[in-house]
Amino acid sequence: MLRLAQTLEAQLRAAMERAFPAAAAEAQAAGRALDPQLAPASKPEFGDFQANGALPLAKPLGLPPRQIAAAIVAELAAEPALAELCLEPVIAGPGFINLTVRPERLAAELAARLADPRLGVPSVADPGRVIVDFSSPNIAKEMHVGHLRSTIIGDALARVLEFRGHRVLRLNHVGDWGTQFGMLITHLKQVAPEALETADAVDLGDLVAFYRQAKQRFDTDEPFQAASREEVVRLQGGNPLSLKAWGLLCDQSRREFQAIYDRLAIQINERGESFYNPELQAVVDDLSAAGLLVVDAGAGCVFLEGVSGKDGQPLPLIVQKSDGGFNYATTDLAAIRYRLAPQPAGDGAQRVIYVTDAGQASHFAGVFQVARRAGWIPAQASVEHVPFGLVQGDDGKKLKTRSGDTVRLKDLLDEAVERAGADLRRRLVEEDRLEAESFMAQVATTVGIAAVKYADLSTNRITNYQFSFDRMLALSGNTAPYLLYAVVRIAGIARKGGDLEGDVASLRFGEPQEWALVRELLKLDVVIAEVEQELLPNRLCGYLFELCQVFNRFYDQVPVLKAPPEARGSRLALCRLTAATLKLGLGLLGIPTLERM
Ligand code: ARG
Repeated sequence: MLRLAQTLEAQLRAAMERAFPAAAAEAQAAGRALDPQLAPASKPEFGDFQANGALPLAKPLGLPPRQIAAAIVAELAAEPALAELCLEPVIAGPGFINLTVRPERLAAELAARLADPRLGVPSVADPGRVIVDFSSPNIAKEMHVGHLRSTIIGDALARVLEFRGHRVLRLNHVGDWGTQFGMLITHLKQVAPEALETADAVDLGDLVAFYRQAKQRFDTDEPFQAASREEVVRLQGGNPLSLKAWGLLCDQSRREFQAIYDRLAIQINERGESFYNPELQAVVDDLSAAGLLVVDAGAGCVFLEGVSGKDGQPLPLIVQKSDGGFNYATTDLAAIRYRLAPQPAGDGAQRVIYVTDAGQASHFAGVFQVARRAGWIPAQASVEHVPFGLVQGDDGKKLKTRSGDTVRLKDLLDEAVERAGADLRRRLVEEDRLEAESFMAQVATTVGIAAVKYADLSTNRITNYQFSFDRMLALSGNTAPYLLYAVVRIAGIARKGGDLEGDVASLRFGEPQEWALVRELLKLDVVIAEVEQELLPNRLCGYLFELCQVFNRFYDQVPVLKAPPEARGSRLALCRLTAATLKLGLGLLGIPTLERM
């Protein structure tokens, strides 16, 4: 259950903390921590907050908890700030203290938000550098649905952090380095040399096929393997021809990735694995100097504390292969060191967030531990892996096309847009509406992309997520179309003559549906703070969905345009703040809204 407005809660907490010690002086003398245990009311009929702190004092004070609660309430009566904020506290059950915020205070808070372009969400006082490492596909491989999840979730988190005022660096840690290029270049030299000399000679689809063939040859063909190894050495040694071929391959992939980012309106800066190449040897040397490196069967390892394998032996993080080459972990160690190092030698980040599938959890746990033991993570900095589950088809199995191939992202987005367009055309016929082609195309694109993003963001990212076009495009339920439709509905009020921009001298509410909407609107700041902390976008989705439901109940049951004159302005103000909240919230999820659909 969400709490109400942080500002109100802070005032309430302060008053409670003053009243508490006096009522429970004996317990305090006995050295007990006094916590009012302020929580959101468990049911609307209990008010807005409840303080449960009387109960744990019963034992140390040897008194019935209701009696303690009564003493606290008596103290609270002497708190002028509290009396201004709340109606008289009510003792309930075994000794809960229920608190209801005064209606005029709720209305005043609502008025303040109406006047605030940030809708009551404060900016952080001390903005820090935050890195969000997301999307991060691999060159010469297709960007797959896992990368799509990372892209959508990472973008939403970056937007929330940016809105809170942090200095966010969005990084695309693309896989653009390593042995795969040795095999790919060797293979292409033989079968498609033009791809290594001219841009655009092959498209990414071909490149992916070539990559598959190369991998197969590498696994079965000794001389090919040897040639590939030599090619990697040439590339890493900076041979100009190898570098040129590598650059062309990267460009080709980059263009394909960019097409997806453009469709999804994603801003991201590429800083691939190759960026850290010059640092890799130094990283291993530093680990060695710190006494962390152990050479085991020829490979450079750091043995992890508290992590053991099936046989009970400690597990190593391998940082240098027995052939001297470096790997994914070495690169991530170089990256973490660089990102946390103070500027100008590094990024000077205070928080680094990695958005990848849950399968990489142990990789990051290992990297974080080694970086910490090497002293690369300053005390006030944090590094966080933000894991997510698999994308599954309707059948609960790995998402595949009908013919059993992996789904291409371009096709997936195309289908979402196409289906959104078909839904729209059906609706237009039913409603006997005539619209221009350009309007229909615009709505289909916005709704289709929104549906894909929202479906992903609205489930708890840690669980696997079932991809279903039908579900994500439904006009009811916790879906993008449902939320977008609420914004359209409010825009319709303005079209029907409701002045949504008008100034309201004093807000007055009477109906329970109005109060429910007021209270819901006042939770925005709390939910944003939560997402910033816990990095769970589904919390924001859940809030926006709840807001729409409360709004729709209000709008269906309480007249707005036909309201009596003394109530009309206040109700229109509720509509306006609801639309603004939905636009802001959806915007933070990377979803633009529509005026009509
Ligand atoms: N390229 C990796 C993959 O496709 C994801 C990279 C994530 N970021 C990182 N710093 N390791 O799985």
